[in-house]
Formats: sequence, structure tokens, C-alpha cells
Amino acid sequence: MLIRKYYKPVSVSDEEQQLYEAVAAEAAKLQAPVYLVGGHVRDKLLQRESKDIDFTVVGDGPQLAEAVGKRLGVSVVTYKNFGTARLQYHDFIVEFVGARRESYRPASRKPEVQAGTLMDDLARRDFTINALAISLNADDYGMVLDAFDGLGDLERRLLRTPLDPDITFADDPLRMLRAARFAAQLDFTPLVEVRQAMRNNAERIRIVSVERITDELNKMLMAPKPSIAFDLLFKTGLLQEVLPELALLYGVEHIEGKGHKDNFYHTLQVLDQVARRSDHLWLRWAALLHDVGKYDTKRFEKGKGWTFHGHEVVGARKVEAIFRRLHLPLNEPLKFVQKMVLLHLRPIALSKEEVTDSAMRRLLFDAGNDLEDLLILCESDITSKNEKKVKKYLENFQLVRRKLAEVEERDRIRNWQPPVSGEVIMKTFGKPPGREIGIIKEAIREAILEGKINNTFEDAYAFMLQKAAELGWEPVTKN
Ligand code: CTP
Repeated sequence: MLIRKYYKPVSVSDEEQQLYEAVAAEAAKLQAPVYLVGGHVRDKLLQRESKDIDFTVVGDGPQLAEAVGKRLGVSVVTYKNFGTARLQYHDFIVEFVGARRESYRPASRKPEVQAGTLMDDLARRDFTINALAISLNADDYGMVLDAFDGLGDLERRLLRTPLDPDITFADDPLRMLRAARFAAQLDFTPLVEVRQAMRNNAERIRIVSVERITDELNKMLMAPKPSIAFDLLFKTGLLQEVLPELALLYGVEHIEGKGHKDNFYHTLQVLDQVARRSDHLWLRWAALLHDVGKYDTKRFEKGKGWTFHGHEVVGARKVEAIFRRLHLPLNEPLKFVQKMVLLHLRPIALSKEEVTDSAMRRLLFDAGNDLEDLLILCESDITSKNEKKVKKYLENFQLVRRKLAEVEERDRIRNWQPPVSGEVIMKTFGKPPGREIGIIKEAIREAILEGKINNTFEDAYAFMLQKAAELGWEPVTKN
């Protein structure tokens, strides 16, 4: 039953007010009751910012949108096939759709859509907190319409489905990922039966398009405490479907009384620590995947214990496979995440040994402009139950930061290019581009990073002549 409730007034900007008045006036003219619905209502009641506004009209959505567009002087885009229309008013993206009843066929996400009542429309939604409506009609303007005690769930911070969760999730399996996302984004708790239904229906996520899945994964990663989402996905078997490489990190093995960290829960802790320090999406992906190579590289070495040699290299390769499968961008973001995974042990190593300047220069050179992100990842990678240890490691790490800053200040290695370029080498010896040019170029770079020669054109040029002589090359021009 739809219950009308007065709720604490929500704040509305002037532009929003103008929009609501226009919608209310045009809907009244068309004699079509109209309601604010979905995420915007939820976010308003939670006092969260939201620029997407959805209206459900008991009647023709596009017709109302056209009338509102005319009144506000903005254009309307209509999607005839879906019976929806959209307009933009200031920075609000506004969508209109007729109230509908949908029934889903088991093997598909394509619903059969029929016109329905407001109640039909709310009952087919994912969670009770998303199934609230606010009336814009004369007789109950501004009242919240609540059929499933969504208001109670908002206060109790619970995720509950309006219908039997097995039906709600079978209708659209993406909703299981949305449950995990809302749990982390809003810090809400899914009811036990919601979790059970996620477990029951986990395999059905396979019928959902990869783009929708990836979109949710990105939103989970951007939550204040992303581990809430990934832990829930793991416990319900959904992570095993969408990111099996990560689920494989779960568990601890013991041999000769020696165990290792649970790399799955370690990863989640690192992810939360990165999330506290940075809101860079791709750095969060890097945190999620930084140890993904540990499953394949795990060995027990007698007398030594557990090792994961080369996990950063194997991990960086796996990142590419994961990015391809999830249709994540294969240009800069992939390169960045691979770089973070590949380099994630390097700064920590610098805190342990007697550190040479050349090791510092090498890291500065390899990390380049991404150094700060790499340092955030490494600092976040320090996890231990022993707080004293964590404190000590973090202090050591501060030392690494200071030393890196000193070496950079002196040698300017980030964004550095060796003073003798490939072009100079080719011109000097009258050679076309090729493998040998690369070898000489790299030898010059190495010699400077190692501190064998100074970072000057003169030294580098002399060194180049010497290397080229070893290949039997003679200069064709004098510099
Ligand atoms: N909805 C649903 N099932 C889905 C997606 C959406 O029932 N798989 C319903 C919910 O009522 C939701 C509304 O459609 O509130 C709008 O969907 P959308 O804009 O995708 O999500 P929001 O809830 O608004 O959240 P966000 O904008 O953060 O994605």
C-alpha cells in the first residue's frame, strides 16, 4: 500500500525549484500525475548531492518532457523505443518516463514493458530506498510516497528489496553489484536475505554486459571504504565471477608451522588505505590489483618460508588481461596501473637496504611523474597487526621520501632525458634508426644513473664515442 508521509523538508536550489514548478504545471495541464523518483529522492533525503533527476509520470513521459522543455526553453531528446525523454536544465540531467510494469524473461535482461500504476513502477525497482517517490501533484505536493518502508530503511541504513530478493535479482542481476556498491558508497547493510539471494543468483551476473559491470566496479572503487563492497562480493561468490584473479588471493596456507598473509584481505586493507589518501580511480585500481600475481608465484622454500618472487611482473601481465576482459581503457590508465604494480616493491626496498643514490635515481627515472602516486601505494601497502611495526615502517618510509626529494633536487631525474639523444647518435655516425642506436642510448642513460659519468653533454658525448668505437663505428661529423 502506498503511504503518504510528511518528511523533513529537503533543500532545493532556485533552478531545481523552477524545474519542479514547470513539471508540476505541465503535468496538471495534461492531467498526468507526476512524481520525483529513484536515486535523486534517496540522495535528497540523505542530503547527498545529485544532478540526475528522474520523473515518473502516470501517462506519456515524452509528451510531458516536450511540454516542460518548451516552457523552460530547452531542447528535449526522445528515445521512442524506450518511451523515455531527456532534457538538460542548468546542470541537471532530467529524465521522464511513463510509469511501467515490467516482467522479465528468465534468460534475458530485456523486459516486456506495459503501462502501469505508480505502485507497479516502484515495486519493480531494486531497493526500497530507491523505491520512494515525491509527489508534484496539487493534492499532496511535496509528500513522500512510500510503499515498502524505504524511509524506515533509510533511517536504519538497510538495503532491502521491495519484492522477494530472488525475484528482484533474477529480474536484473546487475542489482547484486549495485547492492555491494550502495553498501560501500552509503555505508548501508544488506539484509541477510539480500545476501543470501546474492549467493543464490551470483552466476546470473554472466548475462549482464561487461560495461555495466565495470561501471559498478568503478563506483565501488570510488566509495569512501571500497573494501565493504569487495568483501561482500567475495562472500556471496560474485567476485569469483567478475574478478576471479582477486578471489584466488584469499586464504592462508601453512607448511612447517609457517603461514603467510591472507593476500585478499591484505589487498582490501591496502585499497582502503589508498582510498583514504587519494581519490584517483586508477591508483585505486592499482591498489586492488597490486598483489594479483601472488597466486601464481607462491612457493614454499625450505628454511626460508613463503615467497612470491616476481609477483610484480606476473601481476603487471595479469592487469592487461583483466583490463581487456573488463573493457577498461587500454591506453594511459592501463599503462599507469601496470607501472604501479610493477614498481610497487621498489620504494619499500629502498627503506630496507643501505641505499645508494643510483638506486634512488633509478626509481625517480622509472616512476617519473607518477612518483607521488607510487609512494602513496607503497605507504598504503604497509599493513601489520603490530602497530609498533607499522609506525616504524612508516617512519622509515618518510626517510625514503626525504632522500628521494634530495636526490631529485640535486639531479632533476624525473622527466629527465639523457643529454645525448638518439638523433645525435644517428647524425654523428650517419646511421639509420636501429637496435644499435638503442643500445648506445641505453648505455649512456645507465652510466649517468649509475653515477659513472656526469649528467652533461660533454661527458655523455665522450662516452658515446667510446661505446661506438667498441662497435667499430667512426663519426662522420665532428661536433
Ligand atoms: N534501478 C533499478 N535497477 C537497476 C538500476 C536502476 O531498479 N538495475 C532503479 C532504481 O530505482 C534507481 C533508479 O532506477 O534509483 C535510477 O537508476 P540509476 O540512475 O542507474 O541509479 P541511481 O539509484 O540513481 O544511483 P546512481 O546515479 O548513483 O547510479
